[in-house]
Amino acid sequence: MDNASPLSRREALAQAQEALLAWFGAHMRPLPWRRDYDPYRVWISEIMLQQTQMERGVQYFERWMDAFPTLEALAGAPEEEVLKLWEGLGYYARARNLIKAARAVVQERGGAFPASFEELRALPGIGPYTAAAVASIAFQEDVPCIDANVERIIARLLDIDTPVKEKAAQEAIAEAARLLLPRGRAREHNQAMMELGALVCARRPDCPRCPLSPWCLARKRDTAEHRPVKKPGAGPVELVLASGVLLHGGRCFIQKREEDDVWGGLWEFPGGCAEKGERPEKAVVREYLEETGFAVKVLGKYGVLKSTYTNHRITLHFYALAFAGDKPGPAPEAPVLTAASESRWVPVKELAGFAMPSLYRKAADALSGGQWGMLGLLFPKA
Ligand code: ADE
Repeated sequence: MDNASPLSRREALAQAQEALLAWFGAHMRPLPWRRDYDPYRVWISEIMLQQTQMERGVQYFERWMDAFPTLEALAGAPEEEVLKLWEGLGYYARARNLIKAARAVVQERGGAFPASFEELRALPGIGPYTAAAVASIAFQEDVPCIDANVERIIARLLDIDTPVKEKAAQEAIAEAARLLLPRGRAREHNQAMMELGALVCARRPDCPRCPLSPWCLARKRDTAEHRPVKKPGAGPVELVLASGVLLHGGRCFIQKREEDDVWGGLWEFPGGCAEKGERPEKAVVREYLEETGFAVKVLGKYGVLKSTYTNHRITLHFYALAFAGDKPGPAPEAPVLTAASESRWVPVKELAGFAMPSLYRKAADALSGGQWGMLGLLFPKA
């Protein structure tokens, strides 16, 4: 193809575009927002699918649409309710921005959904990817969408051998994405690229099933497994967290994180990162003192919970705690909150009603589900 005339190169490009669209027509998954491409539904799906597996995204999407079927319903919903529905998806700023953006569209645009890339971009929480996805999928605007799937496909099509997040690769990918887009077919094309990245040109490529393999340089050179190239040393960061439940008078202490914080607006048990060389049972006592002014002691260790968050690998050490003085009766003093906007003393069985980051949710559910043996029995379920 290298010696082909400009006309036949254009024909080859058209063939590749058609092959991709035909593949999408035959293999696309029947996702709920694909029934009508309503802009509100497309927008919610795109925000939900960031950092979320499709199957899980679809479950959350259906629940969300039952609760907030329209932009107006979302704009009128209390933030607590929205965060509770979002619980488990992580990256809660996304949920708070959804409310902000819905309110802005209702109040400032009389409910008229922004219909172009530029207008979408002006809304809170809508970056270049989401603006391009909604503009193309809901409104057929001819803008390419570049997410990690598309980066991977293009890095393979062009056999890009430099780190994919670096400027040179990003520029090549942006230009290729623009040239690959067949005018007037942005809705199908962009979704086809995402779908191909999810189903075929995945981290482990399935080249024999790929509609673009005749034009793929990495396939030709047998380098697909090694594309895209990652930046050297971009491994996960280990974080050790210490937290626990302070029980007093049959209730446990929780606090609501500051709005502008990571996990802002969610409820948690106080705690934080162990310092270098600090044992987690010391860290939890220190963190309680710093965040609430409470002097606590460790009664026992419930266990260790693990999760990942962006490029962090988190290990949470979780403890049963009591006031250090161990006085019965009312809580000895009001907390002095330094990391939270609000706090409550709640019975363990009511923890389920508070939106929490996933590790704390797991801890709260294990507590109320009695999964921690004798130590768990320290905490009444009523
Ligand atoms: N991932 C994110 N958005 C998507 C979409 N519209 N279709 C398939 N996968 C996606």
